[in-house]
Amino acid sequence: MAQLHVIDHPMIQHKLTIMRMKETGSKDFRELLKEISLLMGYEVTRDIALEDFPIETPICPMTAKRVSGRKLAIVPILRAGIGMVEGLLSLIPVARVGHIGLYRDEETHKPVVYFCKLPADIQTRLVILTDPMLATGGSACDAIAMLKERGCKNIRLMCLVAAPEGVEKVRTSHPDVDIYVAAVDEKLNENAYIVPGLGDAGDRIFGTK
Ligand code: PRP
Ligand code: URA
Repeated sequence: MAQLHVIDHPMIQHKLTIMRMKETGSKDFRELLKEISLLMGYEVTRDIALEDFPIETPICPMTAKRVSGRKLAIVPILRAGIGMVEGLLSLIPVARVGHIGLYRDEETHKPVVYFCKLPADIQTRLVILTDPMLATGGSACDAIAMLKERGCKNIRLMCLVAAPEGVEKVRTSHPDVDIYVAAVDEKLNENAYIVPGLGDAGDRIFGTK
């Protein structure tokens, strides 16, 4: 069974609190999401393999360490997942970026696919799938299925806030995918929004409401 990693570092929790506040505007919301994404990226990449790398410092030669050849891809679920890409790219500048476009139908709450563009060698890469909100889990599950259809075997899901229902759905449907979140909230409301949550992440990032 896949693991759920709740990254409860005090700096992440502090920044998340400001993001949750309804008076926080888009500029601050975006900046905080970027900062948290970089910090969460440390945990998501914690077990990435290192290899020996001989170098010379100004003092003497040494065998240093560097990240070994394993290749990464960051794949945001549009739109809100885009808000997590820049922070991750500042940690992993060589990562490739793919995009999966999904939106939740307002009445059925079911995801609808409208875009998919991935690196050609996506099946050889460790994929970090990003979306700030894991609500019913429908969008994440469909995005993971799309990645698997294209041959991806190594997928990690990185979200900011999750509902217990979404965590359960991903763990049941995709038991091989580890989930990284900053918080698991109480529940979903009747509109399938996370409670207490932070509202509509896409609208808050892009100022569309
Ligand atoms: C939000 C969010 C997730 C999805 C989560 O996107 O960013 O993708 O809902 O809900 P689920 O777990 O119930 O599927 P939304 O559909 O609002 O699209 P947007 O990012 O374009 O605003
Ligand atoms: N999508 C969001 O942006 N927020 C929620 O609480 C649920 C789905």
